[in-house]
Amino acid sequence: MTLPVNGFSKLSKEEKITWLANQHFLNKEEGIKTIKQYWNTNEQLQVLHDEFIENTITNFYLPLGIAPNFLINGQYHTIPMAIEESSVVAAAGKAAKYWQKRGGFKANVLGTEKIGQVHFMYSGAFAKLNDFFNSIQPKLFKATNSITENMQKRGGGITSIELRDKTNELDNYYQLHCTFETLDAMGANFINSCLETIAKTFKEEAQNFNGFTSEEKDIQIVMSILSNYVPNCTVRAEASCKIENLNEDKDMPPKQFAEKFVRAIAIANADPHRAVTHNKGIMNGIDAVVLATGNDFRAIEAGVHAYASKNGSYQSLTSARVDGDTFYFSIEIPLALGTVGGLTNLHPLVKLSLEILDNPSAKELMKIVAVAGLAQNFAAVRSLITEGIQKGHMKMHLLNILNQLGASEEEKKYFIKFYKDKTITHSNVINEFNSLRSKNDSSIPK
Ligand code: MEV
Repeated sequence: MTLPVNGFSKLSKEEKITWLANQHFLNKEEGIKTIKQYWNTNEQLQVLHDEFIENTITNFYLPLGIAPNFLINGQYHTIPMAIEESSVVAAAGKAAKYWQKRGGFKANVLGTEKIGQVHFMYSGAFAKLNDFFNSIQPKLFKATNSITENMQKRGGGITSIELRDKTNELDNYYQLHCTFETLDAMGANFINSCLETIAKTFKEEAQNFNGFTSEEKDIQIVMSILSNYVPNCTVRAEASCKIENLNEDKDMPPKQFAEKFVRAIAIANADPHRAVTHNKGIMNGIDAVVLATGNDFRAIEAGVHAYASKNGSYQSLTSARVDGDTFYFSIEIPLALGTVGGLTNLHPLVKLSLEILDNPSAKELMKIVAVAGLAQNFAAVRSLITEGIQKGHMKMHLLNILNQLGASEEEKKYFIKFYKDKTITHSNVINEFNSLRSKNDSSIPK
């Protein structure tokens, strides 16, 4: 039975590991060995990682893969992807190659507006609150000068502060809805610092506003926080080609391919169950690049899925259509990304990933990430409407199964060859593996 622990965060790393082993591990030595096996041999580097969060005991690896040949707006990009799912990088590489031969991807940023809100309660007439807000609005900007100074020099800062009456949704509830331009930074800390200063000034100034009764002066700030829903911080990516060029699937003529593809997207728009899985496939590509570049994938996930519901029901993030003799495939998504600040200056692999991408601006990164999502969706839907998803997926998953079974390198080579033209399932790999093992090792057929 696990016992509660006081002051855990104050313990040394070794003490935390000992506590953990005593409380949770059946084989303490083995558990501690696994933890330490993942420590970096470079102590300074390990300390850097330890200090990213509280109570770090070790590192958690994810593979960092590379998808080359992404032709975006006429330029080639090599995309770093951090992900555990076997088939994602392979699918990205395949889709990149497919579209490279058909003119590549086009991408453009539609907007970069970030949002933050001060949520507060006020009981009184809206007209008075509005008068008060109009009278002190310049002071709200001024109060944040020391925070916004540097950002302003580079062309960013707070772009608007608006009073919003939300009493139809909740009694006495109002907002200061603020918009920001944060340039190459994701801007979370900047936005939240501005909001807390705005809130403090707003509350203080209310005390001095002669138009308010004493009850009206008592504005209750509930919270000040950025919004991860950024429908005006969006990017659009597209790929298109003549229908006759959709000709790489040998069992399906191009016209049928185009029509079936468009129908697959229509199904994702019509049915939320399919839309969620469809969009999950898109996020396979997006999250992998977001993670590799040290961005906040939870923020991106939350914002993107809210955007998928913007029409009132959860729908596909991608669109496809046939117009005359041309097939068009596109994505439009909100992406609040940064290429400076946060982990970008700290994590050596994030720095390396950004270097692989030729040190993009936040806008460039938005385009690359959107293309990664579009490409991933193309690869998934293409498989789904032709040979099915399992063939490619299981081909990539084969090594995981063999590793679970403890296969040697020689056995892995044998099975990769063996399954080249066969259907892979978990159980038939186990059967084939056991049958091979039951023979003498030396009998592995070449
Ligand atoms: C699996 O990770 C992603 C897919 O399910 C996406 C899709 O169904 O479109 C293959």
